[in-house]
Parts: sequence; structure tokens; C-alpha cells
Amino acid sequence: MAQENVQAEVQPTQLALPRHVAIIMDGNGRWAKKKNLPRYMGHREGVKAVRRIVSACQKRGIEALTLFAFSSENWRRPKTEVGLLMDLFVHTLKKEVNRLDRNGVHIRFIGNLTAFDPKLRSLMDIAEQQTAHNHRLTLVIAVNYGGRWDLAEAARRLAARAMAGELEVDDIDSEALGGELCIADLPEPDLFIRTGGEQRISNFLLWQLAYTELYFTDLLWPDFTDAAFSEALQSFASRQRRFGQTGDQIEQSKRA
Ligand code: FPP
Repeated sequence: MAQENVQAEVQPTQLALPRHVAIIMDGNGRWAKKKNLPRYMGHREGVKAVRRIVSACQKRGIEALTLFAFSSENWRRPKTEVGLLMDLFVHTLKKEVNRLDRNGVHIRFIGNLTAFDPKLRSLMDIAEQQTAHNHRLTLVIAVNYGGRWDLAEAARRLAARAMAGELEVDDIDSEALGGELCIADLPEPDLFIRTGGEQRISNFLLWQLAYTELYFTDLLWPDFTDAAFSEALQSFASRQRRFGQTGDQIEQSKRA
């Protein structure tokens, strides 16, 4: 009996590792500005933070990591910054894919990829195909992604199926819509992290974040270390996820 009680005490923190973490990597530009460097250097430093957090996820056995690398709104940035970001994506893909593959990472891209240069699109295709057999960590990179775009695409696909007579209009429910979204095959994110001090979702995974625990930090993305990630995980572990139930119900089901 005493043994059972000990287990009940330690279980919450042991069990409370997120399966899927989603991150808005904000603050690269300010990191560079603080150091009197061009903004581009902040993005380059941001890639190092990506490497760190991918390793941190692997080390802890987290199944999926989704990173917002370029939003559909980021095209509004100065042309030179957009161009340099595209060059950085190309350079990073060329440099990192083999290493990620060796480490068992499955790379996936979500977003409206048709907007990208064919060279970049082909590198994305190669990365996805080369790593498709990996299962250690799924790394989802959201590029030219917007949550509203994702929802509109899903609605459009369902409408097309209804028009083709493959689906009754009455069958369009939240399960059907959710099933058409990007990354519907992955568990929904358990933990969302945004660095850089802003406390917004910014049109990221709008539907998929419905029950996700939100964590905001003032740290700029290039300063986001393994230790900072641990703090976010500790915060997650301390929260009670109720999914609409009462706290008493959750406690009871844990004891059952
Ligand atoms: C937001 O910081 C960051 C971006 C728009 C780009 C993020 C991209 C990377 C970290 C490179 C990742 C590359 C791969 C291949 C995954 P910001 O520029 O908005 O910073 P600010 O708010 O300080 O201006």
C-alpha cells in the first residue's frame, strides 16, 4: 500500500512529458539588434537554437516538434530579409538533412509550399523522402503556414468531396474537419512555447492548439537553451490538464 502511494506521488511528473511540442521561434531580429549585428545574423543564430532543441527533444523522448519557421505574413518583411531567410533555409537543409536522418528524425514541411522557389521545394521534397522511414522524432517545419489557411484548405477539400458525392454534408463535423488539417496524423501539441516576449498565437496551429498548454518566455529565440527548454517542460508538468472535466474528476481518474 505504501509502495502504491509513493508511485502515485511520482507518477504525475514522470507522465507529464509532452508528446508533441510546438514553438514560435521569435526574437531573432532583436537578438541581432542588441549585438549591433544585421538581423540576418539573428536568424543564423536561430538555426543553432533549432539544433539544440531538436537534440533536447530527442534526448527526452519527445515524439514530435513543430517549428514555425516562416508565416504566411512574413512575406511582408523587406525583400532582402525574405531573400536571406530563403537562402538560409536552402543552406540549412543542404547542411543538416543527412545528420538529422542519421539521428532518426523524420522531417516534414507544412504550409503552402507552392509559393517557394523550385530549388527550395525540391530540397524540401528530398528531405521528406530521405527521412520518411525515421521514427525517433518527427520534426515538422511550418513554412508559409497560417492556421486560417490550414482550416480553409480543409474546408475546401471537404466541400469538394461533398460536391463529388463522396460525403454527405451532414457528415461534416469537427472530426471530419480536424482529419483534413495538416499533421492530423500526429498527436495534437501538448505544449506550445513562444519565445521573444509576445503572448500571441499569431495564426499558428489555430485548431490544433485548442487544448494545448501555452508557455511564453521573454528569452529571445537564439538564447533559448536546453535549460530554458527544461523550465518550459517543468511548467508543463506542473499543470493539470482537464479537457473540460473538473479537477476532482482528474484526480479520481489518476487514482483509479
Ligand atoms: C522570428 O524572429 C523568426 C523568424 C521569422 C525566422 C525563424 C527561422 C529560423 C530560426 C531559421 C530556422 C530554419 C530552419 C530550416 C528550421 P523575428 O525576426 O521576428 O525577430 P524579432 O521579433 O526580434 O524581429
